[in-house]
Amino acid sequence: MKNILGIILFVLGFNCVFANTNLNLRKLAESKGIYVGTAIMPSHLEDSKLVDLLTNNFNYLTPENHLKWENVQPAKGVFDFSGADKIVNFAIKHKMRVRGHTLAWHYQNPPWLASLKTDKEEAKKILKNHIMNVVGRYKGKIADWDVVNEPLDENGRLRVNLWNVLIGEEYIELAFRWANEADPNAKLFLNEYGVEWFGAKADAFYKLVKSLKEKGVPIHGVGFQFHIDGQYAPEPVFVAMNIKRFKELGLEVHITELDVRLRGTPSERAIEQQARIYSELMKVALAYDIPVYVTWGVTDKYSWIPSFFSGYGYALMFDDQYKPKKAAFAVSEVLAGERPKKSLYEDSDTESVIKRPLPPFRASKAKKVPIIDGEINKGEWDGTYAYSLMYNQLDTQDRKSTR
Ligand code: XIL
Repeated sequence: MKNILGIILFVLGFNCVFANTNLNLRKLAESKGIYVGTAIMPSHLEDSKLVDLLTNNFNYLTPENHLKWENVQPAKGVFDFSGADKIVNFAIKHKMRVRGHTLAWHYQNPPWLASLKTDKEEAKKILKNHIMNVVGRYKGKIADWDVVNEPLDENGRLRVNLWNVLIGEEYIELAFRWANEADPNAKLFLNEYGVEWFGAKADAFYKLVKSLKEKGVPIHGVGFQFHIDGQYAPEPVFVAMNIKRFKELGLEVHITELDVRLRGTPSERAIEQQARIYSELMKVALAYDIPVYVTWGVTDKYSWIPSFFSGYGYALMFDDQYKPKKAAFAVSEVLAGERPKKSLYEDSDTESVIKRPLPPFRASKAKKVPIIDGEINKGEWDGTYAYSLMYNQLDTQDRKSTR
């Protein structure tokens, strides 16, 4: 009798765990015709619990780091596809679509490239050779490419990255043309952060993309990264309006790197807010036929957030024990429900949303009273924080002025 009870309890317990980790977002996503994706490292594929979560919940993969220059071309002319191959082969086996990330970026370049000093023609040759090799290798296997990543700086100006310095701003359209030559069927994207709703950078991004389209550059869409600080929830109406204007250029909009970071040990309220952000974005995605919704990782265990944003974590839909969080359940509910209508956003009173106060940046008093004369003199701003107009997510320390 005791044994039977034991077996019953064991089966019940097993089912609970199983039901918990087995939300099956993938099936729900497929019923709505959307890809739910995640960023992944080859080493994660050795983790069987993670593989379970992956195959049950996702139908789209982005190699998190293994298609970046530092991994793919660590020495000039020497290509290493071993990491990316593992991910692409896994995706093919599990009938998942793959996003290639990325062909030109200011970050994660191998030392030989980062310190390269050469003339324009040679720089073009190097970029073209890389793109032809990498896109060519995965022709027909990688469906979407982030051709250029983060081309704008915090204030919406063209970033002075290595390609801009060596080739000039033409590097962007050249990269798209070469990627198109290497795989004419791949969809090509410009990927950026801080452009997901309205602001100076979003407007600059829109102008850049529009001019590329007008020049006949083979660009098929834009990627909005959506690395969000859970304290500052995006207004779904603004996100929707922004998506709408990019779509009106004849482009696809993909959500490419979503995570919602929370500070410290998150409160219940913060966790609920996080769930709301994830699910509101899925609602917008469904309303506007956004075909791809990618989160930047599966579980908090492997998330990039704690090492890049000190004091933050808890950013993904599954916790570090691989359990689905409120965010995962909220997203699954949206996927299981009726498709939201555009009118939800287009009929709303945006004026009242615009008037809501914005959260301030961190502020602190200057030690002396600064003289505002257009000159930043030594010691004048000591004790204050200095921010550029937009917030740089890869350099997110609150910066004390040193001048
Ligand atoms: C991050 C990775 O997640 C980290 O593992 C790596 O150390 C740094 O880059 N925007 C991007 C991604 O386009 O490539 C970045 O990924 C996160 C910010």
